[in-house]
Amino acid sequence: MKIMVINGPNLNMLGIREPAHYGRETYQDLIQKIENHAKTLGVEVTCLQSNHEGDLVDFIQSAYGQYDGIVINPGAYTHTSIAILDAAKSVGVPLVEIHISKVEEREDFRQVSYIRLAAMTTITGHGTQGYLEAMDILYDHLKGGVQA
Ligand code: DQA
Repeated sequence: MKIMVINGPNLNMLGIREPAHYGRETYQDLIQKIENHAKTLGVEVTCLQSNHEGDLVDFIQSAYGQYDGIVINPGAYTHTSIAILDAAKSVGVPLVEIHISKVEEREDFRQVSYIRLAAMTTITGHGTQGYLEAMDILYDHLKGGVQA
């Protein structure tokens, strides 16, 4: 089983950016945590990050036929990007949306999520632990799919 974890703009600044919202863990800490969890689950994981919308579209497209699931935190592009939504709909790979902060309790402009329209489910406000929960959801879904 292969899972792609995609992080969008400014998530490379974890640990530095707005710790009240995003905590003190760095992006490297997050990747380590995700890789350890992948080992525990026995899945292959690839972690990708970009500050550029088109790169995120390319990452999603590259998952087609190659990955079983996608975990994505599109950062601010969550609230603006129809292109990222279209990419997710194009490939049809099971996808879980994750946000570190509790976006529903923040500004009005964060209340729209385009990617949500292509997501199995959305996790918000669980900090970086949310990525691991997203992996668990995909794992259970994909395992169930294999057994059915
Ligand atoms: C975020 C929430 C977004 O609104 C914000 O633009 C981010 C991070 C989160 O993880 O909580 O960059 O996706």
